Amino acid sequence: MAAMKIFPIVIALCLGVVSAGKHDIYSGYTTYKVSLRDRSDQDILHDLELKLDLDVWQHGLPGNVDAIVMVSPQNKDDFINQLDENEIPHSVHLEDIAKAFEEHDAKMESWRKTRKERKVFEDYPRYSEVDEYLINIAEQYPDLVTIVDAGLSFENRSIKYLKISTTNFTDNSKPIYFLDATIHAREWVTTPVALYSIYRLVEDLRDEDRDLREDIDWIILPIVNPDGYEYTHTTERLWRRTRSYYPEINETCYGVDANRNFDVNFNTVGISSDPCGNTYPGHLAFSDPETRIVRDIMFEYLDRIQLYLNVHSQGYLILYGYGNLTLPENSIQIFHVGSTMGAAIDAHKLPEAGFYRVGNSAMLLYTSSGSAQDYGQAVGIPFSYTLELPGYGFGHQVPPEYINQINFETWEGIAASARLSKLYYEARTKTNV
Ligand SMILES: *[C@@H]1O[C@H](CO)[C@@H](O)[C@H](O)[C@H]1NC(C)=O
Ligand SMILES: *[C@@H]1O[C@H](CO)[C@@H](O)[C@H](O)[C@H]1NC(C)=O
Ligand SMILES: *[C@@H]1O[C@H](CO)[C@@H](O)[C@H](O)[C@H]1NC(C)=O
Ligand SMILES: *[C@@H]1O[C@H](CO)[C@@H](O)[C@H](O)[C@H]1NC(C)=O
Repeated sequence: MAAMKIFPIVIALCLGVVSAGKHDIYSGYTTYKVSLRDRSDQDILHDLELKLDLDVWQHGLPGNVDAIVMVSPQNKDDFINQLDENEIPHSVHLEDIAKAFEEHDAKMESWRKTRKERKVFEDYPRYSEVDEYLINIAEQYPDLVTIVDAGLSFENRSIKYLKISTTNFTDNSKPIYFLDATIHAREWVTTPVALYSIYRLVEDLRDEDRDLREDIDWIILPIVNPDGYEYTHTTERLWRRTRSYYPEINETCYGVDANRNFDVNFNTVGISSDPCGNTYPGHLAFSDPETRIVRDIMFEYLDRIQLYLNVHSQGYLILYGYGNLTLPENSIQIFHVGSTMGAAIDAHKLPEAGFYRVGNSAMLLYTSSGSAQDYGQAVGIPFSYTLELPGYGFGHQVPPEYINQINFETWEGIAASARLSKLYYEARTKTNV
């Protein structure tokens, strides 16, 4: 009896050794680079995405940026055949995702050993480290920084943001810049950008940035979707959605695409009706606490938020509304500020990086609904953007040595957009007088 009890344990241990990989669920999955030649290729890929439930890591731009698409072992033949039939050029990007992720983890680990003094924004910090950083900053700089506990995520994590202001948000002549990150759980490199912005404004102000701190009030929310974010660290690296659970709607699937969950053209275009789908908008607009928190911040300061930046990864894109192809009335101004931001980033980009493209999200990519970008625009924020940071062709696993570069160059773009949108704010408040 004793031997029989031990036997299964020994087998389990052996199996454990063979397949202990944290990323085994991606075993046999492959990513492909797809070179889109024109809009028609883009549409074909988009149809395939829906038909085969592909996971598109990076939406390409025809003639500019390759799409990066993850394909399951079951769908590979179908996918390749359809691309070949349409003569769309493609090549293997990562042969085996599980293996690529293990390698990335090992690389991260050895990189961390050589960078013991690294700052929180030079790494991919866990939720608790970010939380601790925000609390510390608020304690250290009480005259400049106010921490706000905005509420709880579905799994009861506290979602915090910082208000940064030399006048405690009391001076109505200053515009507010509202930046948030990691609404999509797997887009890890977005949170460092938010944290670095705090660092630049609070901890290490440069002379050339002084006006940004003096003349503008800032709201910075580094992790919109902490449940999803933690889940990508512990369980599924490529989780994108929230982790809400509504068994009365569907017992199988968790979460919604928070960036389809806002109450603007909700549940219309560019969404998946499959409750397990990556772009499932949820059963109701604002079904999830994470999106309600962003909405409530917008409304609390609606008359003063001049620019809303919803940070994503990746694709070198600055996008604006609306996702249904209608342009906002001030689209020239939106383009002006967006292109100024993109050009400032490009001026500091690495040689191997792509150039930013600026445009309406539906015209550059695909139609969408319920996005944070559209919601901000629709409720009256004059400049509302989705920023897709560089991925350098790596997908979601941006190697750690690029984090600081992305932080630095993106800050240059944020600074440029803050200054220019402030001029528009002054013009707006003057004509209202
Ligand atoms: C800022 O204003 C809030 C009220 O809106 C107040 O509770 C807080 O004490 C003020 N902070 C400082 C540093 O004056
Ligand atoms: C969050 O906390 C509330 C109140 O304590 C509790 O009822 C709820 O079950 C918690 N939710 C989760 C997902 O743990
Ligand atoms: C939940 O969604 C999954 C995936 O679409 C589907 O297979 C399942 O039937 C749904 N369950 C219920 C109870 O609706
Ligand atoms: C597109 O969405 C915007 C924002 O909700 C709305 O104002 C506009 O009327 C919509 N356009 C169409 C054609 O429905």
